[in-house]
Amino acid sequence: MNRTGIMIACVAILLLACSSEESTHMTNVDADHSKMPDTEKLVESAKIQIEQKSVAIVEKMQPIPSALPSVEQNSGLALAKKSGCLNCHSVEKKIVGPAWRDVAKRYKGQAGARTQLIAKVKKGGSGNWTEVTGGTPMPPNSPRVAHADIETLVDFVLSLE
Ligand code: HEC
Repeated sequence: MNRTGIMIACVAILLLACSSEESTHMTNVDADHSKMPDTEKLVESAKIQIEQKSVAIVEKMQPIPSALPSVEQNSGLALAKKSGCLNCHSVEKKIVGPAWRDVAKRYKGQAGARTQLIAKVKKGGSGNWTEVTGGTPMPPNSPRVAHADIETLVDFVLSLE
């Protein structure tokens, strides 16, 4: 082969190499382009899902009550729970014993109610809430529950109204 022959061969090889590289390059670009709409669709549907989920979460969230129980009420309830009172009482509903809000309403402003209720909670007994309880007595809570705790609990109940 003479020089020109070699040159032509080289150019031809170069051209071939380039064109084949270009063609693979092209197909890659084409492939990417054809994938793009899919990716966009995926991203779009993911966005919609996230939006729908956050709307669902916001809808499920409970509104924050405007009147949150005070610290005293929370600690009163904690002491009541610890002392076993909440097995039979709740603030709003009759369970075995009367709702404590009803107890507070009944004794509101009555002199001597505090002392009387402290004695009743210590000793237990029946007769004051028969229409609600059907006559079930409250068992004695003293000495199981300390005197000071019973005082705190009665103050808590009377603070409810
Ligand atoms: C086993 C159930 C039971 C438990 C435990 C219990 N109670 Fe009662 N409670 C009753 C019942 C029943 C009455 C209604 C008594 C009545 O009719 O006089 C009552 C009544 C009361 C009353 C109103 C009393 C009155 O004469 O008006 C108060 C105050 C009270 N409970 C506080 C408490 C506290 C504080 C505790 C915890 C230390 C407690 N109770 C634990 C059943 C229970």
